[in-house]
Amino acid sequence: MNYDIAADIQRLKKEKNAVILAHYYEEGDIQDIADFVGDSFFLAKTGQKVQQKVILLAGVVFMAESVKILNPEKTVLVPDLEASCSLVKGAPYEKYLEWRKQNSDGIAVTYINSSAEVKAISDVIITSSNAEQIIDSIPRDRKILFGPDQHLGRWLSKKLNRKMELWPGACEVHVLFNARKLHELKSEHPDALVIAHPECDEAVLNYADVIGSTSRLLEEVKNNPHKKFIVATEAGIFHQMKKERPEAILIQAPVLDSGCACNNCPYMKMNSMEKIKAALEKLEPQVQMSEILRKQARVSLDRMMDITSGKPVTWPTEFHV
Ligand code: 13P
Ligand code: SF4
Repeated sequence: MNYDIAADIQRLKKEKNAVILAHYYEEGDIQDIADFVGDSFFLAKTGQKVQQKVILLAGVVFMAESVKILNPEKTVLVPDLEASCSLVKGAPYEKYLEWRKQNSDGIAVTYINSSAEVKAISDVIITSSNAEQIIDSIPRDRKILFGPDQHLGRWLSKKLNRKMELWPGACEVHVLFNARKLHELKSEHPDALVIAHPECDEAVLNYADVIGSTSRLLEEVKNNPHKKFIVATEAGIFHQMKKERPEAILIQAPVLDSGCACNNCPYMKMNSMEKIKAALEKLEPQVQMSEILRKQARVSLDRMMDITSGKPVTWPTEFHV
């Protein structure tokens, strides 16, 4: 008889009063045992709604940190504490702080793909599904510092007609999609709709018919009557897209080196069913941070939650450490 690890995980969830939240970039088996699957904004919001005492976040560590910052009373588990993100790595606290100090009159709008330390010196957090609403709520005469993803920032700046200082970070997965090869692929499939995540570079985004967060791209596949889609984002999302539209033809956007599995996020893919089971058994590894850091980081996350739920917010006039 085959060993059923999914059944073990379901049993452990009940025993430990735990809930599993998973990102769309996880492997299909992980998405299937999760109680909730979604984009980074959805996961942060869901963390605030669930009743269970233990939250296991199958995604990357900054997502779990956001849940911990907002829900200090919960035990927040990750399958692997090494599951970082190239945007987090490319925005070290000391350098980000220096940038902020050099632009102390600016409002720091920071992508959720950042460390808790960087969130603590930011004014507001955004994700790709709420960035436009949040940036639109900032008075037009205020200077904006946007980081760490330069491609998302450039796209937002153009779309919203808003000048921004950009931090030079990038997602190591999305920058691999290649514009010239995408052009060739599009010519081979003129009937396909190109859908892309805004972490792709501008040359790739110029070919996209639809640009948006993972949940926005999934919604497009679900609701658009097109039969063929070229998808410029991480491969894990194909799992839900295929469930929604089993008859649709989904083509991964091309990278230069066609032999590699470069459209897989190496951090998201550090998680496995075995690590999830072990984390639930031992209630380890847990996301931990000092209470001072957590409270400081919470200010910018709370502003995101307030703006997206229609509450009025105030903006600091000057940055102080
Ligand atoms: P979403 O918020 O669109 O899910 O994106 C998260 C992410 O890490 C994309 O690379
Ligand atoms: Fe970070 Fe890119 Fe992986 Fe998303 S896909 S978690 S931005 S490295």
